Amino acid sequence: MDKMRITGGFPLSGKIIIGGSKNAALPLMCASLLTDSSVVLANVPHLADITTMANLLSQHGVNVSLEGQDLRDGHIGRVLSLNAGNISNTVAPYDLVRQMRASILVLGPLLARVGEAEVSLPGGCAIGTRPVDLHIQGLEKLGAEVFVQNGYIRATAKKGLVGANIVFPKISVGATENLLLAAVLAEGKTVLENVAKEPEIGDLVNCLMSMGAKIEGKGTDTLTIVGVKKLVGARHTIMPDRIEAGTYAMAAAITCGSIELIGAKQEDMSSTLESLIMAGVSVKKKNENIKIDVPTGRLKSINLGTEPYPGFPTDLQAQFISLMTGADGKSIISETIFENRFMHVPELQRMGANIDVSGGSAVVTGVSHLTGAPVMASDLRASASLVLAGLAAKGETLISRIYHLDRGYERLEEKLANVGADIERVKDET
Ligand code: UD1
Repeated sequence: MDKMRITGGFPLSGKIIIGGSKNAALPLMCASLLTDSSVVLANVPHLADITTMANLLSQHGVNVSLEGQDLRDGHIGRVLSLNAGNISNTVAPYDLVRQMRASILVLGPLLARVGEAEVSLPGGCAIGTRPVDLHIQGLEKLGAEVFVQNGYIRATAKKGLVGANIVFPKISVGATENLLLAAVLAEGKTVLENVAKEPEIGDLVNCLMSMGAKIEGKGTDTLTIVGVKKLVGARHTIMPDRIEAGTYAMAAAITCGSIELIGAKQEDMSSTLESLIMAGVSVKKKNENIKIDVPTGRLKSINLGTEPYPGFPTDLQAQFISLMTGADGKSIISETIFENRFMHVPELQRMGANIDVSGGSAVVTGVSHLTGAPVMASDLRASASLVLAGLAAKGETLISRIYHLDRGYERLEEKLANVGADIERVKDET
């Protein structure tokens, strides 16, 4: 397995181009199951999770092809064409689903389009138990018969799905997306209340509407969908990745560097940027880009808690803890979305960080500096937090299990090396 070697202590300086959003791209790829015409997605990031989703959709019979590349400011976004003219298989097998939980998002569209789907239960993962009860209950309200048997969710709707009122007891990004992907082809009106408002859901709504779906309430707590008989193909450009942008903003801040994030969408990143400003980081909008630097050369500790959008994203919690390890004072970071999302903490402690975890909170007391160490990545965003710590630490950090990083950060080492980081991928020759 490849490792990442970082020698820290260099302020980053320059420009980083932000790619298309992974968390927007995955449900958008699943939307292709809803029509027999081609859905063309531009600005698709080149990531392991995208390949996994392409493999999953291919085995359902979707023809996935690379149409080319769109070049923007020197950034290469891929253009994928997905055609589900012939859905030949409605089973999403364990081997693919266990690699990536977003695979559950084929359930709603398969059920809506062909009346049946069999999707392996995703199971737990490094950040918590992550149940899918809200997805199942919602689809049952739309008239599906759902059984969980032998580790698989078996769902049928032989006479088609029928619109319903669904009030989510808890805000869930994935359940909102799955229900939206099902309701667009259900008969009649569906009202989804207490939905997630993440910008990636807005991106999905935009694409579905270009495909002919009738949806109202984008960006609010309630989505109203009037089902249509058929959807058509569309071309859609995927939104910029706000988590990638937030991670690089923190890379600039933790090294007291100066970075311009090219193509990052500030409107989608308010809570992240506000937290950085409170911590002493300067955030300036420059045309369509965001300029990050630390004018005083010091960071201040702040407290924050993760929340559903527009709150601070759980996907940036680990990186923010790294940032706070060198800030003046004491910071309390609370995780409210996933119960076990502090796997990065013991690794950061090995680099000299002063962090105490108690319940759902981490108390971070700033230290004068971190020191490089061999550390192990446990999940995607935890890996990113170790990269940030490595960039700031004195000496060499060697991160193992970096395959997690490849799930969600495109050419990370190249992007960071281009702005002055001493970072390289160490290939495993065995
Ligand atoms: C999505 C993102 C993931 C991100 C997370 C939080 C994608 C593909 N994945 O994950 O990267 O970390 O949002 O922003 O976009 N829950 C239930 N029952 C359910 C579903 C969820 O109890 O049926 C709970 C979860 O355990 C969690 C909370 O609801 O505590 C929110 O989870 P959810 O928003 O569904 O996260 P994901 O969609 O899995």
